[in-house]
Amino acid sequence: MSQKISHTAAFITVKFYGLTLFKPFKSLFSEKIIEFYGNIVQQLPKHLSWYYRTLKSKWWRRFFIWSEELLLPGDLMHIIGRKYYIIQELDKAIEEGYKQIVVLGSGFDHSAWYSSTKLCLSIEIDTELMISEKKRFLDHGKYLNPNLHLLPIDVTKQSITDILNDLEEYDPNKPTAFIAEGFFDYLTYDVAKDVLNQIRGLSSNARLITTIFSLDELNILYRSSFTSGVAMVGEAIKLPLNFQGFRDLLTETGFDKQSSVNYTDMEEKLFKPHGIKYSVLNGFYVLTAE
Ligand SMILES: C[S@@+](CC[C@H](N)C(=O)[O-])C[C@H]1O[C@@H](n2cnc3c(N)ncnc32)[C@H](O)[C@@H]1O
Repeated sequence: MSQKISHTAAFITVKFYGLTLFKPFKSLFSEKIIEFYGNIVQQLPKHLSWYYRTLKSKWWRRFFIWSEELLLPGDLMHIIGRKYYIIQELDKAIEEGYKQIVVLGSGFDHSAWYSSTKLCLSIEIDTELMISEKKRFLDHGKYLNPNLHLLPIDVTKQSITDILNDLEEYDPNKPTAFIAEGFFDYLTYDVAKDVLNQIRGLSSNARLITTIFSLDELNILYRSSFTSGVAMVGEAIKLPLNFQGFRDLLTETGFDKQSSVNYTDMEEKLFKPHGIKYSVLNGFYVLTAE
């Protein structure tokens, strides 16, 4: 098991924090969610927490956006898009009666804490080190509460089914929403298929809200910028599927009803109306399936 925190998860948090210091992005999220990520950035190890103060400077933020846009245009904007649409889908699920929320590869996400404040049984799943760090952050920010459970599970070695069924509060008969933000891309085909089969079996009424990167939609230069960026922090994109391939896998594992938001939708329906001129990374999707 990795002995260091997930840097992909940490950088998503840092980037979200930095972007939401700009008014147009800030206006898309609640104060509490923005504050949550700011608190986490301050608590990250020193080589990451320095961004907390640095990004308060507009000049530095502009410089980072310029350099990120040069290397991989749309990467920063996809973070705003994914957080925004996952919140929308999560709110919708809660409204429709999904009162059990399981967040897979939860990293430093706010989602499980957020749903726990809406009185849902909320469960975070990540590797042992990430869960212990997250607990520390949540404790420090006074975010822990009886609805929120953090479970250390390496999904390549342990069964989510066994561990969830061991949790007294978990009820397989209740509608359950599984959130997988930036998760499946980091699993091999076999592990991803196994996890999807487990989700199907874990609730008689399961909804999956997930992101997926269809790397074939990026040109070769940006594809290599994307994969080498992930490799530089010691992680790897492992899922050998494009968008259609992932949808086929969902169908094969019993998720017949599918809907999605793609990068163009995000630009047209979310960014343009808010006067945001940046584009979103090609090949990025938020997908809901049941
Ligand atoms: C790209 S990060 C995304 C984190 C967070 N969901 C977000 O969107 O910011 C991937 C997350 O999946 C977790 N992860 C990767 N492989 C895992 C595994 N085998 N078992 C459990 N968690 C895993 C990592 O520790 C990391 O937190």
